[in-house]
Amino acid sequence: MKRISLIGSTGSIGKSTLSVVEHLSDRFSIFALTANSAVGLLADQVAVFRPEVVGVTDARHVDAFRRACRDRSVAVPEVVTGPDGLRQITSAPEVDIVVSAAVGAAGLWPTYTAVAAGKIVALANKEAMVVAGELLCKTSEVTGAQIVPIDSEHSAVDQCLRAGARGEVLRLILTASGGPFRETPVERLVRVTPEEALKHPTWKMGKRITIDSATLMNKGLEVIEARWLFDIPAQKVDIMVHPQSIVHSMVEFVDGSIVAQLGTADMRQPIQYALTYPERLPSPVAPLDWGAVSRLEFHLPDRQKFPCIALAYQAIELGDTAPCVVNAADEIAVEEFLNGNIPFTDIPNVIDAALDAHDLQSGSSLDSILEADRWAREFAKRWVGHRHAAQC
Ligand SMILES: NC(=O)c1ccc[n+]([C@@H]2O[C@H](COP(=O)([O-])OP(=O)(O)OC[C@H]3O[C@@H](n4cnc5c(N)ncnc54)[C@H](OP(=O)(O)O)[C@@H]3O)[C@@H](O)[C@H]2O)c1
Repeated sequence: MKRISLIGSTGSIGKSTLSVVEHLSDRFSIFALTANSAVGLLADQVAVFRPEVVGVTDARHVDAFRRACRDRSVAVPEVVTGPDGLRQITSAPEVDIVVSAAVGAAGLWPTYTAVAAGKIVALANKEAMVVAGELLCKTSEVTGAQIVPIDSEHSAVDQCLRAGARGEVLRLILTASGGPFRETPVERLVRVTPEEALKHPTWKMGKRITIDSATLMNKGLEVIEARWLFDIPAQKVDIMVHPQSIVHSMVEFVDGSIVAQLGTADMRQPIQYALTYPERLPSPVAPLDWGAVSRLEFHLPDRQKFPCIALAYQAIELGDTAPCVVNAADEIAVEEFLNGNIPFTDIPNVIDAALDAHDLQSGSSLDSILEADRWAREFAKRWVGHRHAAQC
């Protein structure tokens, strides 16, 4: 029986992870669950999975969580709060696997602590690898932590890599659905609304990653994530738009052979693979319905229309704290777009301006990463403020 700390249990990945744990309840049990503020759902999950510890990151919601447990006649488990609470949950000696599924740079601390404690880390929080890839990889070499990707593209690459030796790999090809604006004329993008941008054609996900999929920044972040996870230069990581989201990614080998991983678009598949890695077990995911697959299309992304792709490659080329700045500026820009403060087309403009203004610092120091993250958030907020002032 392996014991899991699930960071971000109330999110899209968190809920899918609990579905897998329920399916494999003879192998996995839950040691800890965490949420930021969704305490009603957290109490529902406590009633079913009976964790020993619960993390409520935003301490203002602890009383409401206790009330929600009492309302459900559920015993209140030990409650921890804030980043310190997450650190405690991810490094506890009772824990075998940490599923890192909080959203945004907030996932850095729990991921880093789990890697530093030598755990198996099932990584959904790509932002941690984007902002601190160098640090996490160096730390895992020292502690023996195993980082297994949950992102469907990286899980697919990991599975494809089993077909050959590392020296035989020519390039990785990450597939992208193309998002809701794949066929939208570029001149209309300035007027698209948050509601339109939140309508992802194939995946149901949290808000940030859904908007990142619409700008294709998600794919850019995934290129950076792949660079660190698979220790491969970003120039050898390509993007291919594949609207059907059936081929989850591919690996091209030096002999010209391309190995692809296909399946139903259901995150429970890569989550289960990460939890049972390197074993495969029957899963709750519906088999691919070949009758409904009429064609598989592939084409190169339009880099003019989606400038976030080039910004991500630029960041990894610059190295050090540049990817951290891209992630933080994007996080703020997405929030401001969702709040109606900037148009969709300003998301890459905010990131570009932040990258341009940033003085690079070491990417292997946690302090400089946290400082770059703070600086980029402030910069992005100021940029949006100036934009507003100029328009009024
Ligand atoms: N969804 C997908 O299919 C998918 C696929 C690949 C990778 N990912 C990655 O997985 C991660 C989670 O994505 P998601 O779609 O599951 O996001 P989501 O649905 O928005 O869920 C985010 C989770 O993080 C918690 N959270 C929010 N703010 C936090 C904070 N400051 N500190 C700690 N926890 C916080 C949320 O708690 P509350 O519910 O209380 O707000 C929730 O449990 C992201 O890094 C994303 O890029 C997602």
